[in-house]
Amino acid sequence: MLNVGVIGLGSMGMTHLDAYSRLPDVRVVAVADQKFATPGATVGRAGNIAGQSSGGFDLDSVKKYVEAIELINDPEVQAVDICAPTSSHKELALLAIKAGKSVFVEKPLARTSTDAREIAEAAAKAGVVLMPAHCMRFWPGWDWLKAAMNDKRFGAVQSASFVRLGSKPPTPFYNDGVASGGSHLDLHIHDTDFVLFLFGMPDAVTSFGRIGESGAVEHTVTRYHFGDTDALVTSEGAWTRDAEKRPFEMRYTVVFERATVVYNLGADPVMRVYQADKEPEAVLLSSDLGYALEVAEFARCAAARQNSPVVNGIDGYRALEIIEAELRSIETGQTFYL
Ligand SMILES: NC(=O)c1ccc[n+]([C@@H]2O[C@H](COP(=O)([O-])OP(=O)(O)OC[C@H]3O[C@@H](n4cnc5c(N)ncnc54)[C@H](O)[C@@H]3O)[C@@H](O)[C@H]2O)c1
Repeated sequence: MLNVGVIGLGSMGMTHLDAYSRLPDVRVVAVADQKFATPGATVGRAGNIAGQSSGGFDLDSVKKYVEAIELINDPEVQAVDICAPTSSHKELALLAIKAGKSVFVEKPLARTSTDAREIAEAAAKAGVVLMPAHCMRFWPGWDWLKAAMNDKRFGAVQSASFVRLGSKPPTPFYNDGVASGGSHLDLHIHDTDFVLFLFGMPDAVTSFGRIGESGAVEHTVTRYHFGDTDALVTSEGAWTRDAEKRPFEMRYTVVFERATVVYNLGADPVMRVYQADKEPEAVLLSSDLGYALEVAEFARCAAARQNSPVVNGIDGYRALEIIEAELRSIETGQTFYL
């Protein structure tokens, strides 16, 4: 049995609690949120994806701390799951690593690539498990794409386009672009990381962006350049101002030599493969969300005291290095070479 403590009970904290509650070998023993200092304050809120949290986790069954450090130092807690705002990730992750706990950190691993690298190096030195929560690597249909690229069943990729557009989250942390990094860090990093997962580190990026009310980039369009492929790889990510009235958009179109694969969260079926000599083919996807699958992977890794082969601390700071290169390109109006 693995004993877990979850810090930060906003949309992601509740999503992770929901996922842990379905794992037979995991027990959530404690949660921490500063809101517990205010009697009657409510924790939790809805996220972008339908069904990501039932909100059914029984908070009365676990210890509740106001200060995260109390949870980290609780001897019963073996694994710490950090779902607090991005600006707190570095401090909390380093404390958990120092306490010898396995650590799961919501994306982005930290506010900057330098801080993320410090976390990854501290975890490696301490010999503790560290996993950044880059959920797209586990998402049904996205893991399928990775497998199709690896086994080259449709030949080489000629172009890949990723799009992610969602309403700006309502909590105050996101309004502060310095703390949150805008949609560039909140949302666009999912596709930046997935491009890293599929193609490795790009040689250069050409990005365009728009600064929003938070003071940070709230709309990003990027082309990623690679030395070993001339595939046209692009992504677009933005916060929209429609107060969640428009459905969250998450899609990709990947053109292979012998097939085109389309994933569109809002379509039915969500995923289709198009080939010249066949009828369009729907891909049957698992009903599990990537969140549940990544949480299960973290629990497995923490119990085995081994880092995940799918995503590790190095991926966490590499994704941020690309994100920061995209920002430099937006600022200078020039292609940025990594
Ligand atoms: N993987 C994804 O798809 C995804 C989606 C949304 C957010 N996120 C990431 O998850 C993290 C949290 O985002 P959210 O949308 O759930 O935030 P949120 O604003 O909904 O909730 C954050 C919670 O953390 C609490 N908190 C703040 N500081 C704390 C501290 N020091 N100790 C304990 N609790 C603290 C707040 O009271 C609040 O309840 C961010 O890093 C964000 O980038 C990931």
